[in-house]
Amino acid sequence: MPQDDLFASADASGSANPVPGSPTTVADEAARLRALLNEHAHRYYVLDEPTIPDAEYDRLFQALQAIEAAHPELRTPDSPTQRVIGQVLDGFEPVRHAVPMLSIRTETDTEASGAVAFDARVRRELALGEDAPSVEYAAELKFDGLAINLRYENGVLVQAATRGDGETGENVTQNIRTIGQIPLRLHGTHAPVIEVRGEVFMRRDAFEALNERQREQGAKTFVNPRNAAAGAVRQLDPGIAAQRPLSFFAYGLGEVQGWDVPPTHSGVLDALAAFGLPVCAERCVAQGAEGLVAFHRDIGARRDKLPFDIDGIVYKVNRRDLQERLGFVTREPRWAVAHKYPAQEQLTQVEGIDIQVGRTGKLTPVARLKPVFVGGVTVTNATLHNLFELRRKRVRIGDTVIVRRAGDVIPEVVGVVPGERPAYVPNFRMPRHCPICGSTVVREPGEVNHRCSGGLFCAAQRKQALLHFAQRRAMDIEGLGEKLVDQLVDGDIVRTLPDLYKMGFAKLAELDRMAEKSAQNLLDSLEKSKQKATLPRFLFGLGIRHVGETTAKDLARHFGKMGHKGDEKNEGIMNASYEQLLAVRDVGPIVAQSIRTFFDQEHNCEVVEQLRAAGVSWPEHEPSAEADAATLPLYGKTVVLTGTLPTLAREEAKAMLEAAGAKVAGSVSKKTHYVVAGAEAGSKLDKAQELGITILDEQGLRDLLASAAHGSAPADAQVSGEGA
Ligand code: IVH
Repeated sequence: MPQDDLFASADASGSANPVPGSPTTVADEAARLRALLNEHAHRYYVLDEPTIPDAEYDRLFQALQAIEAAHPELRTPDSPTQRVIGQVLDGFEPVRHAVPMLSIRTETDTEASGAVAFDARVRRELALGEDAPSVEYAAELKFDGLAINLRYENGVLVQAATRGDGETGENVTQNIRTIGQIPLRLHGTHAPVIEVRGEVFMRRDAFEALNERQREQGAKTFVNPRNAAAGAVRQLDPGIAAQRPLSFFAYGLGEVQGWDVPPTHSGVLDALAAFGLPVCAERCVAQGAEGLVAFHRDIGARRDKLPFDIDGIVYKVNRRDLQERLGFVTREPRWAVAHKYPAQEQLTQVEGIDIQVGRTGKLTPVARLKPVFVGGVTVTNATLHNLFELRRKRVRIGDTVIVRRAGDVIPEVVGVVPGERPAYVPNFRMPRHCPICGSTVVREPGEVNHRCSGGLFCAAQRKQALLHFAQRRAMDIEGLGEKLVDQLVDGDIVRTLPDLYKMGFAKLAELDRMAEKSAQNLLDSLEKSKQKATLPRFLFGLGIRHVGETTAKDLARHFGKMGHKGDEKNEGIMNASYEQLLAVRDVGPIVAQSIRTFFDQEHNCEVVEQLRAAGVSWPEHEPSAEADAATLPLYGKTVVLTGTLPTLAREEAKAMLEAAGAKVAGSVSKKTHYVVAGAEAGSKLDKAQELGITILDEQGLRDLLASAAHGSAPADAQVSGEGA
């Protein structure tokens, strides 16, 4: 017996019935750990509500690994240790689908008429008269990834296969097991066979981060999240697949044996969610064409804000008996249709390549394009990111390129259509001098980006710095937009931030299109901005590299004051040492260094002093241990505000929550702990209800703040967000 075998007496097969009170068998212990780990994985990956710290999960995981190492026969396919397998495959084995994986008819008419036509067809096929009641549909998103069939036998995931040609797909079980969201064992069912169908996809943030990493390493980037997801699923090395974070949503069934399938599609999805499978909350049961049109419109308006790409909506007749009556035409069901949205990728020509100089001096090559309608807007420019990426994609003027615009991300050129290049065009070169200010262009060793070395001497950097300072989330100087900043900088009226507050009425009124009234308005909003400044807004507005809004808030909370350079007391953010900066939550070495570098430059401190002298001021407080965010009562909680509260303005509610350490977010997700809803709360409230998030009214919010302040757990805090 190996020495580490704590269960030496146990029957490894697990078939023995231990005498009550006797030590548990190894098999029982393995089963207990498996169940526990699967439960916690579900809370972590699907519900986003971990209830144990990561370290504890790791401990349980290692305990199970140790048992399985000593007793390989106890290693089951649903063991969480089987999610990552190191072995590289030399190909995928074909899998014949028990029930073919069909495709759906696509409605390319992206207008409301597309939904109306589908409803009319369904009614005709069902021989429904004009006064027959409306047909009920299940409407859901059309995810842009790849279809996967998950086969569960006796509740355990035994196989995952791609769609392939619909009849035969590929066995990708090993890679699919690495997707934490996919349960290895279903909750509450041991049905002999349940095949779950759904889409594997990559979220936009994961995709952007993956591409950003690739770009930094000078490696090939992925064209879009779908390609990145498909590549990861079909990656022969499951270790690499595991590094490409994938997501999954279930949307249907394949073969089923021994499970009483609910009579409606929406009921099926509810059941799948109850089994522990991820099912997208953005879905509805719609009555007739009207309901479909409303959902298509609602999602269309929010499409850019979704965390993943969709290319349309899928409508399905909700009742399964009606689906059966409707049947199929060739390989497409008559009861479902995909109603598209405008494409997020289009072809167009490159008319030129310009260089843009950003706030930090980064030179970005930008393709000037023949205008093209993509992702719902007309695009005339698209980023090429950097010289290396441009070279790798071999983009030249005159080329036909694929442009992608999805979500709030700026449009980008993702590739060239080969063979369509006109006559000889020279390779693009990065200029050696900044096209705006003529300063030398530099590229640090190991960096992919070229930068203008001109700093605030460079008009482009100055303009961006002013716009950054003036934006709503910073100093909120109303009326100071791009056109005006161009004039102020080009006319040499404003060179530095403090110059903004030194502008006279006469100078302003002289500017192009600056009628007297708007000149006065601008002076008024400059005056206002002095008063409404807060330390975090001011700090963010300075445009220190890597200091975004959140970091600015954290810094302000931690240090309380800005401080003065050379001040004897050596207080405040300006004087904070690298080590002191590292003590602030979420501030790491890069951010700390960047802040230090900023205030080490005399002229930057000068700017701060001059702004103060011009009358910009903000409330300050003493630094205190209590200011350490992690000790605040609502630290780690995310709250979303929606609708109008009876007495509190939204900004007030936000400030109160933030003061208590909570994060106030703009949209509801599984990560949200509370939604505070007032009058006319809209879709955020619906979403919160769907996700089962605690909803508070104004009084509830006040109670939460009060109970948090007294250190007692809020009465309704059934939500437990503090994993690791
Ligand atoms: S249902 C019989 N629902 O679209 C109906 N498909 O052409 C089978 N897709 O390959 C599909 N989101 O990969 C369905 N909510 C959704 C979907 C969806 C994306 C994909 C799926 C399939 C293709 C259909």
